[in-house]
Amino acid sequence: MAAALKLGFTPFTHRRGVLILFCTENLKFGPATRRIAAQLGDTLRRAAAAERFTGKTGSSLDVIAPSGIDVPRVVVIGTGKQTAPTSRDLIKLGGIAMGKVPKTAPAATIVAELGSGALKPDQVANLALGARLRAYSFDRYKTKRKEDDEQKPKTIDLNFACANPSAAAKAWKGRGAVAEGVVLARDLVNEPGNVLFPGEFARRASTLSKLGVVAEVLDVAAMRKLGMGALLGVGQGAGHESKLVVMRWNGGKRGVAPVAFIGKGVCFDSGGLSIKPAQNMEDMKGDMAGAACVVGLMHALAARRAKVNVVGAIGLVENMPDGKAQRPGDIVTTMSGQTIEIINTDAEGRLVLADVLHYVNKRFKPKFMINLATLTGAIIVALGQEFAGLFSNDDKLAERLSKAGEATGERVWRMPLTPEYDKMIDSKFADMKNTGGRSGGAITAAQLLARFVDKTPWAHLDIAGTGLGSPQSDTNKSWASGWGVQLLERLVEDHYER
Ligand code: BES
Ligand code: MN
Ligand code: ZN
Repeated sequence: MAAALKLGFTPFTHRRGVLILFCTENLKFGPATRRIAAQLGDTLRRAAAAERFTGKTGSSLDVIAPSGIDVPRVVVIGTGKQTAPTSRDLIKLGGIAMGKVPKTAPAATIVAELGSGALKPDQVANLALGARLRAYSFDRYKTKRKEDDEQKPKTIDLNFACANPSAAAKAWKGRGAVAEGVVLARDLVNEPGNVLFPGEFARRASTLSKLGVVAEVLDVAAMRKLGMGALLGVGQGAGHESKLVVMRWNGGKRGVAPVAFIGKGVCFDSGGLSIKPAQNMEDMKGDMAGAACVVGLMHALAARRAKVNVVGAIGLVENMPDGKAQRPGDIVTTMSGQTIEIINTDAEGRLVLADVLHYVNKRFKPKFMINLATLTGAIIVALGQEFAGLFSNDDKLAERLSKAGEATGERVWRMPLTPEYDKMIDSKFADMKNTGGRSGGAITAAQLLARFVDKTPWAHLDIAGTGLGSPQSDTNKSWASGWGVQLLERLVEDHYER
């Protein structure tokens, strides 16, 4: 079991538990940190010399505290050459600091000061965000306690010693809401498919009503009435019924057009009749990471009472082979009226999104739409797991997403979207086919989506690489990353709130 984190903000005079300090190169401390270090006599200087620790980025020094100071252990984390830290640096640093707290420690104090001096309240909150995300683990289904678990505390008392604790605590209200949103998204992605099927996912999304989010759940009959033949075709071979959840947070002015986020929510993607190989198929329980991000984002925005009108919509299906399952060669009619020939039933995410994008655009006339989807293996081939693929019909929106990506560390790389690729998805029998072959696989998928958004500014984020099975980072040790919640919360805060 992971310990619960009790997070607080205290003055620089506070010290309880493991003490964590930052220094820049040549062992340079900020003024408050220097006063604390002075209480350790020459311990740090001697330990640093013995370990050849100079404060380079990525290095750290771990010492048992000498008698005379009431902490068990002091860890110094190097931050390298002094530069003004970005929010991304601070989130990462918070994660690194949390990683230095021993699993058995019941308390730790992180001194929120870099070599250059004290951090501003929002910078302290970013440190705390990184620490909170690093502390996450998904162990709901671990029933056996390991032997060393006996030593682990039930809660960790984690304090950030800083110049203005009450202002930092206030800033944390906003960042804490984002942390909760990321944690919610990770929990959803980590859940197995037998537990988190469309109906259960819809139920969990509906619990956002406790924060003032209005949630509607459309069932198969309602979607049939709307003519969502593409979404329904994907789910028709599944034992679990498809659902569409529409969430609304109206924190902005009445009557102002909303911004909209749409998520692919394939609760399990077996490939359908075009079945996937057994190897790694278990990862396809995470094929709803786009939808999980939308729910996490709605949570974050509602919990921090964002002054903006937002729509979140998630198409929830299970893609299974069965006697009733969709066949290659089938032709489906989308809600927009356009028809799609199914070549490969494993190219299902675009079918779900085609209907949800059209529905949201028509019903809400949003300022912009952004969809997130674990859409293609091809985007992993192109970009690996560091950047998500960004496809957009709007340069300004693309630019804003790139900036928000740099600020949060959830980075995006723009890919082409241009009519020349369209002929690759021409069909012999219908308006288009659902795959365009191996080459440019992430692009042809995006070209198909573009046909369902009209002129509305729109961006598609292909998060197949970043959303799951992500390489362990300083702010995540879990399989699911919760990718996109921080990015989109930042985009909304910087550009669309008033
Ligand atoms: N859900 C997969 C894409 C995926 C792959 C997500 C790996 C996460 C990790 C998607 O539905 C899919 O199967 N795409 C196919 C499309 C192909 C049949 C045109 C792919 O990428 O192979
Ligand atoms: Mn698939
Ligand atoms: Zn899929």
